Amino acid sequence: MIRHINLDEILNSFHSGEKKVIQQSCIEKNVELTLREKDAIELDVVGILDGGDKASIRGVIPCAWDYYRHYSEAFGAFRNENINVFEIGVSSGSSLKTWASYFKSATLVGIDIDPTCKRFECGPIKVRIGSQDDEEFLQAVANEYLPTIVIDDGSHQAQHIIKSFEILFSLILPGGIYAVEDLAFHFAAQGEEVVPVTHGWGTPVFSYFVRFMAAKAAHVTVLDGAPPELNKIYSEIDQITIAGGLIIVCKKKIAKWEKHIPIFEKQLRERAQFGSDHYSECALRYAEFLLTYNINLPRAIELLKDTLLTRPGYPNIAIYLIFALKASSQDVEAQQIAEENGLKVDDVHLPAVHYPVWMKFPH
Ligand SMILES: C[S@@+](CC[C@H](N)C(=O)[O-])C[C@H]1O[C@@H](n2cnc3c(N)ncnc32)[C@H](O)[C@@H]1O
Repeated sequence: MIRHINLDEILNSFHSGEKKVIQQSCIEKNVELTLREKDAIELDVVGILDGGDKASIRGVIPCAWDYYRHYSEAFGAFRNENINVFEIGVSSGSSLKTWASYFKSATLVGIDIDPTCKRFECGPIKVRIGSQDDEEFLQAVANEYLPTIVIDDGSHQAQHIIKSFEILFSLILPGGIYAVEDLAFHFAAQGEEVVPVTHGWGTPVFSYFVRFMAAKAAHVTVLDGAPPELNKIYSEIDQITIAGGLIIVCKKKIAKWEKHIPIFEKQLRERAQFGSDHYSECALRYAEFLLTYNINLPRAIELLKDTLLTRPGYPNIAIYLIFALKASSQDVEAQQIAEENGLKVDDVHLPAVHYPVWMKFPH
């Protein structure tokens, strides 16, 4: 049976004899920890007790990867969420058990090629039998349980890791996370150097992910010469982190630009006290934001008209206003403002959000 374990509950349950003094000091120390730190410790402790190799000690197994503290950073925001967490690779079921303890409301979906792993199905733990490189199978599991988190601790073969990633990263929900474990298997000593190698066949896993990482570092918007499917994946990656043998890839969230509006309005009110010039510049920046993300055009028009009155001739106000009026189908007024400011309506475009798209990805 799966039990949700709470560290404080355990500590508080010892209140007798000599242990009381020791426990008391543990509880006091715990008070100084942040919630996140407590979560990380709890995950590691539960992981140590459940066995497996993701915790900070190794027991009888050959290595301790010490992944849980990184996982608690990455997964903390989902801890109480009703999400689906996939783990490719069930084996003895130890990590599934730990995840069932860590995530309070999640469904844990173990994927393994070994049919005997079905025996670990219990409560929130589901197990689906198939290979991690079988697209139809993965698609069917994702149709059943739309994943938010995927952890690949399966075959550790390069071709499988890359194939599963290419299938499942597209399927995880926006804001979700994809983790690939045990990268250490994908390196080898060559003379003085430790270099990426193919464990399995095809592209070395590290080289595959480094391509995304280098492109993110260069802040380019496309992988030059890469197939559209790879560019689609690249465009959905928000962030890639490497932590001791572990790759964590975060998927972009759906941008909710309208959430900025109340903060902009509050800031604008506060900044009004610093004088009309400062206010106008802020209003112009705010209007540009509204136009860029195509939200609340009437408010943008209001701000721009106001700013045009107080700062006539200031760069971009007329351009933005004409653009906003055109976007709101107020063509006659757009034409009038253009004539008054010596501009041609058809020449008016909003400056693109700046990304250094000029930079080609180095191959
Ligand atoms: C390292 S173990 C998983 C350990 C487990 N995640 C834990 O921490 O307790 C790897 C598992 O991957 C499974 N596996 C191997 N090849 C696979 C494949 N092609 N598709 C899915 N699972 C596979 C193996 O059967 C094995 O149970």
